[in-house]
Amino acid sequence: MSNIESVLNEKRVFNPSEKFVKQANVSGMAGYQALCKAAEQDYAGFWANLARETLHWKKPFTKTLDESNAPFFKWFEDGVLNVSYNCLDVHLATQAEKTAIIFEADDGKVTKINYRDLHTRVCQFANGLKSRGIKNGDRVVIYMPMSIEVVVAMQACARIGAIHSVVFGGFSSKSLHERIVDAQASAVITADAQMRGGKVMPLKSVVDEALSTGGCEKVHSVIVYRRAASETAWNAQNNIWWHDLVAGQSSVCEPEWVSSEHPLFILYTSGSTGKPKGVQHSSGGYLLGTMLTMQWVFDYKPTDVFWCTADVGWVTGHSYVTYGPLAMGATQVVFEGIPTYPDAGRFWKMIQNHKVTTFYTAPTAIRSLIKLGGDLPKQYDLSSLRLLGSVGEPINPEAWMWYYNTVGQARCPIVDTWWQTETGHHMIAPLPGAMPLKPGSCTLPLPGIIASIVNEAGNEVHDQHGGFLVIKRPFPAQIRTIWGDPERYKRAYFPEEMHGYYLAGDSSHRDEDGYFWIMGRIDDVLKVSGHRLGTMEIESALSANPLVAEAAVVGKPHDIKGEAIVAFVVLKGTRPDDAAKAKEIAEILRTWVSKSIGPIAKPDEIRFGDNLPKTRSGKIMRRLLRAIANGEDITQDISTLENPAILEQLKNAVR
Ligand code: WT7
Repeated sequence: MSNIESVLNEKRVFNPSEKFVKQANVSGMAGYQALCKAAEQDYAGFWANLARETLHWKKPFTKTLDESNAPFFKWFEDGVLNVSYNCLDVHLATQAEKTAIIFEADDGKVTKINYRDLHTRVCQFANGLKSRGIKNGDRVVIYMPMSIEVVVAMQACARIGAIHSVVFGGFSSKSLHERIVDAQASAVITADAQMRGGKVMPLKSVVDEALSTGGCEKVHSVIVYRRAASETAWNAQNNIWWHDLVAGQSSVCEPEWVSSEHPLFILYTSGSTGKPKGVQHSSGGYLLGTMLTMQWVFDYKPTDVFWCTADVGWVTGHSYVTYGPLAMGATQVVFEGIPTYPDAGRFWKMIQNHKVTTFYTAPTAIRSLIKLGGDLPKQYDLSSLRLLGSVGEPINPEAWMWYYNTVGQARCPIVDTWWQTETGHHMIAPLPGAMPLKPGSCTLPLPGIIASIVNEAGNEVHDQHGGFLVIKRPFPAQIRTIWGDPERYKRAYFPEEMHGYYLAGDSSHRDEDGYFWIMGRIDDVLKVSGHRLGTMEIESALSANPLVAEAAVVGKPHDIKGEAIVAFVVLKGTRPDDAAKAKEIAEILRTWVSKSIGPIAKPDEIRFGDNLPKTRSGKIMRRLLRAIANGEDITQDISTLENPAILEQLKNAVR
C-alpha cells in the first residue's frame, strides 16, 4: 500500500509559560519523559503502582495484567472495589462541604450540590433501585437530560453493581429501542421531558414508544424524573416517579463490592455501517484512566472549577462529567442547555459567572460560535480560565488559533485530546505543563500508551508518512468487548494483520518531533492521482480562508485521477444564491487550497450550504456527503443525523 500523504504545513509552536510549567502536575518535558521511561522499564509495574496509589481498593489486587486470552485483557482482576465509593465516599471525611456540581439549567437557574448531599442522594436512589429488584449485573438504560439527577442515576447504578447504558436524549425511539433490546435492560430511567433552547422536548413518550415495540419484555420498571411538569401518559403497572421511588429511602447504602473487571457500563457507538456497537467498559481500569488523565492532561487542582460541556450520552460525559471529576473531588459545572441559547454568548457568560478554570468542548461548537459571534468572548470576563480543551474530531488550526487567542487570551494552553469511546480516556494529548503545542496536533501519547502508525500489513511506517493509528500494548481503561458480540470485537479492533495491536480506525502521521496529527477516519481517506489524502488537512486549509466557517471534503470517482475532491463549504457570510457568485467564491477557494497545500489537494468541485450533515455528537457524516457528491439517492441509515433538511439543500446547491 502507498502511504497516506501529509500535505498540511503547519509550523506554529506555542510553548507553555514558565508560570504554567512551574505549577503543573507534570512539569516540563523531563517530567513527561520520566513517566514514559517508567512505563517502558516495567509496563505492568507502572500501571500497578498507579492503580494502588490512585484508587481505593476494598481488597487489593495481586495480579496486574492477564493477557492469556488476548484480546480479552484483564487488569487488576482479583482486586475488589466500588466505583461510586471511589467517587463519593472517599471525600466525605475531608471535603463533604465542597461543591461537587454547579448545575445550570436551560433557563439559567443555578443549583449547587456538595459532596455530602450528592452522596446521600446517590445512596437513596440506589436503595430505590434495589427496592425495584434491580441488582448486580442487571442492565439499566438511562435516557435523561443533563441534570444532577442523571449523575445520581449513573452513580447509583455503579453503587449497586448494575451496568448502565446511557442513551443520548436526542436519539429517536428506534435507536432507543435497539439499545434496550441489545442490552436486554431490566429498567429504564428517564424524565418526563427535557428543556433545550427554551423548548420542551418529550422523553417519556419516546420511551413508551420504544417499549411498545417487541423485544423489551425484560423491562419491569420505568423510573421518571419530573423535569418539565409536562403531560405524560402513565402505565401504573411499571411506571414510577423518581420522587416517589426515593421517598423514605435510607441514606445509607453499602456499596456492592465488585471485581475490578466488573462491567461498569455499556455505551453504544455507531460505526459508520451496521448496528451500533455496545462498547463494554470495566470498573477499576476505566476509573484509573479517567483519574490519571484528570491529573496529567487537565492538570487538575483542588481549586479548579472544571467544565466539560459534553452530554453524558457520550463517553466524554461519562469520563469527564460523571466519573473523572467526581473521583478527583472536583467542583464542576453541569449544563442542561445549548451554547446558542439565549444567544451565542452563553458559554462565555457561564465561564464568567462560575469562574470556570478548565473548559473542555468540541471543535464543532467552537466553529459554530466563531460563525455566530467571533468577538462575543471579548464582552465577558474570562480571566478565571487557565486551561482549554478540545475533543471529538481534529481541530483545524484556524479554530485552534481563535480558541487560543480570543477565548484563552493567549494565556491558556489548549489540550487537543485524541481518544475514543473504546479507549475510555485521553490517549494522545498534551501534558500542558510539558509539551510545546502545535495547532492541529494532539501532540504525544500519554505515559504508558504505546501508540504507533503502521501500514496495511501492520508494519511501522516512517515518520512523516501517514498510516493507520494503532495502540501496541493493552492499557487498563480500554474496551473489554462488544456487548454480546465478542467476535465483532476481535474483528473490528484486532484484525489479524495488525499483530495484536489495537486498530483505532483513524489515519495519522507523525512529524519530525514525533507529534501525532490525526488525518481523519480510515474510511474517509481519498485517493487522488495515486496519492492517499486524509480529509482533515484539506478541510483545515479551506477553513483557514477568512470567508469559510466550516468545510468537509469527500471523493467522487474520476476517470483520470481515480478520485476527484468535492468540498462542501459553509461560509461565514451568507450562502451564494446564484451560480456566478458561487463560481467566483469557489475559484477563490480552489486557488487558496492550491497555494496553501499544493495543487494535488485542490477541490475539483465546491458546493455551498448553510450547514453540514452532522451526527448529534457533532461529527460530520461524510458518507452522506459522498452520496450527494456522486448524485446518488440517500438510502443509508440517517437515524443519527441531527439535521436531515440539510441534505436537500446540499443536493440542490448552486455550483
Ligand atoms: C473518534 C472517536 C473522544 C471522545 C468523543 C468522541 C475522532 C476524537 C479527536 C481529536 C482528532 C479526534 C477520531 C476518533 N476524534 N477526538 N482530538 N483529534 N480526531 O468519541 O465518538 O468514539 O469518536 O473521534 O476519529 O477515532 P467517539
